[in-house]
Amino acid sequence: MSLLNVRDLTVTYGRLTAVHEVSFTLEPGRRYGLVGETGCGKSSVSRSLLGLVRPPNRATAQAVTLDGCGDLLHMPARRLRAVRGADIGYVAQNPFGALHPVLTVGEQFHRFLAAHAATRSRADSRSQVVPLLEKLGVPGAERVYDGHAGTLSGGMAQRVVIAFATLLSPRLVVADEPTTALDVTVQRQVLDIIAAPGHDRTLLLTTHDLSVVAQYCDEVLVMYAGRIVESGPVARVFVDPAHPYTTALLGSVPRPGLPLMSLPGRPPNLAEHGDGCDFAPRCAHGTDICAVRPALQADGGHAVACHHRKALV
Ligand SMILES: Nc1ncnc2c1ncn2[C@@H]1O[C@H](COP(=O)(O)OP(=O)(O)O)[C@@H](O)[C@H]1O
Ligand SMILES: [Mg+2]
Repeated sequence: MSLLNVRDLTVTYGRLTAVHEVSFTLEPGRRYGLVGETGCGKSSVSRSLLGLVRPPNRATAQAVTLDGCGDLLHMPARRLRAVRGADIGYVAQNPFGALHPVLTVGEQFHRFLAAHAATRSRADSRSQVVPLLEKLGVPGAERVYDGHAGTLSGGMAQRVVIAFATLLSPRLVVADEPTTALDVTVQRQVLDIIAAPGHDRTLLLTTHDLSVVAQYCDEVLVMYAGRIVESGPVARVFVDPAHPYTTALLGSVPRPGLPLMSLPGRPPNLAEHGDGCDFAPRCAHGTDICAVRPALQADGGHAVACHHRKALV
């Protein structure tokens, strides 16, 4: 039984369709990397899973279901608040959006724990949270706990949000570029807490750093222009990519550890979707058939949407 089942998820912002009928499943205990250039819809997918795409914007799907919790897109707000934090931990790309600027960090943690019936007292909340902040490399964790969120630096706010997302050991963590504001020296420490190696954690991790995917993820989902164009085990996709876009992304990383994802050619304009392959204008392998959109076709666990895909073995 999959932990999360997403069928035909479409996200629109007014006339702009940012995500087109995306389908994927997350299996329990596996870690997934979500990659692709800026603007390809990664955050829109992540936010949809938390019920955070709200009118006038729209997230629609045949299914976005979390095992045992039901439909995440149509869940009453109260129930969704209970699921968030306890079943799904979320690290938003913008951490400040998730924090109340005026309340102290500690008060926010206490309210969060109280809402999930996970604390006995303010002192108990503090004793649960401060050690986690320390593990996340927050210097002066007690002081941060007693301070206001509005005074935090970006890197500090990011770690506070990661503490919220992991504190209750949720089955699923959705982390959207969770370490962008952090020094490389603490990135690994923080990723170890997000990915929780050795624990039964399912992770959907968006990152620009393919070496992070290689190190922390079992599976990779590659998005282009609002669609998944390739997915499969990291060990297969990174060694033998089948989509020219994936090949280009991998080629754009000159050295492991260097977060760089810029390709030649113009990134896709989502407002100008044609009928064919969105990558065709930038692709060296394009032919006439690319005027017809290729379907995502799976062979075992490896799926690719390309007429010229390399033969999958
Ligand atoms: N709240 C919003 N309102 C309007 N357009 C948005 C909003 N959020 C994202 N978009 C647009 O949707 C597309 C996908 O964005 P996003 O999901 O943030 O991609 P990514 O996370 O891969 O960079 C982009 O064109 C972006 O400008
Ligand atoms: Mg994003």
